[in-house]
Amino acid sequence: MTKRKDITEVFTPRQSEVNTSMYVKRPLHEKALARSLKRNSHTLIFGDSGNGKSWLYKKVLSDNAIPYVVANCANASRFKSITQEICNCLIEPGTVIKLGFSEEKAAEVSAYFAKGGLKHSTDYEVSQEDPLLKAFKLFSDVGGNRKIVVLDNLESIFQSKELMDELADIIILLDDERYAACNVNLLIVGIPNGVLQYFTETKNVESVANRIQEIEKVVSIDSGQVMEIVKKGFEQLEIKLTGGALIELSDHVWNITLGIAQRVHEYCECLAYEIEENEWKYEKDLLKKSDHSWLTQGLRQSYQIIESHLNSRETAVARRNQIIFCMAKVRSHQFDSSVIDGLIRKEFPRTVLVTNMGIGSILGELAGGDNPLLI
Ligand SMILES: Nc1ncnc2c1ncn2[C@@H]1O[C@H](COP(=O)(O)OP(=O)(O)OP(=O)(O)O)[C@@H](O)[C@H]1O
Ligand SMILES: [Mg+2]
Repeated sequence: MTKRKDITEVFTPRQSEVNTSMYVKRPLHEKALARSLKRNSHTLIFGDSGNGKSWLYKKVLSDNAIPYVVANCANASRFKSITQEICNCLIEPGTVIKLGFSEEKAAEVSAYFAKGGLKHSTDYEVSQEDPLLKAFKLFSDVGGNRKIVVLDNLESIFQSKELMDELADIIILLDDERYAACNVNLLIVGIPNGVLQYFTETKNVESVANRIQEIEKVVSIDSGQVMEIVKKGFEQLEIKLTGGALIELSDHVWNITLGIAQRVHEYCECLAYEIEENEWKYEKDLLKKSDHSWLTQGLRQSYQIIESHLNSRETAVARRNQIIFCMAKVRSHQFDSSVIDGLIRKEFPRTVLVTNMGIGSILGELAGGDNPLLI
């Protein structure tokens, strides 16, 4: 007899390591990424938070047996140095063991930072003593061909002009013979707004863009892939579902999560707890309960943002509130003002004007400010 897995081992909305028994394939992205990683160029992956960028690159890098380390730009921002974060990742005890680095050499690299943080030189006249070069040499001794340094959460360095400049320098520097000999490329990962902003604000934008290959945006998973996650997860939890129930349940999950991988896991986790309380039997009525617990636990921040955009009730027509209501009825990720116009006519026929209802300009307002409702 097998032992039923724990719910938190199966549905893992925030797990950074890939759980291969739950991973659903993303053939187009995997192929594009694998090809790009084999080229001598840096690669850029972008997509909204929770859509599976980190799982995607980890899966592809390990499937292709490409040695890699993950540097987190949030740390670079804390240390005020991308170089330091990359070096730290490479000489971390875990990495030293996993990739079989020479410990003496790792100690040499770490000595730079112990001395008080040697800054990365920005004038390309880099001496052999550059810690980044030392760290890359260490990495290149691992053997094999290309190695990858992942720079994840790119958006966290945008506040800092210094770090943006440093990244631009590193990207250009990697063409320099001494660095190129190490055969290390970057894989840059971030959310779309951030990435666009990066390319509009970075220095030497042409030289930088020219050295980076971008793969298609990582979007949400489709309804078939949602069903695959539901099916795999419930099988591992030994929850029995008829074919009809699987379809009904997957449709529901797809509808309310819009296929954002992290949300799919979050929702299924809530539902699995409800099913556990129901002696591991699935019933349709449990969906209401899990909707409620998922909404209250996960979407507090979204509530606040939506609330901040709602008009006070006194406003004569409350058009803005109607528009927000209608936006919730739209099933796709992209729409224009005519879609909202149609919905207002259907949902609020008594308030419809003959003249322009100002929908476009209200949508414009909802897309502005610090916490836009629309992008
Ligand atoms: N291919 C996949 N198959 C199954 N589940 C997935 C897949 N990709 C992602 N997930 C689920 O979604 C969660 C979030 O994925 P991931 O951390 O890769 O998103 P991300 O795009 O890197 O988000 P962020 O921008 O916030 O870092 C994972 O913890 C996992 O539960
Ligand atoms: Mg990520």
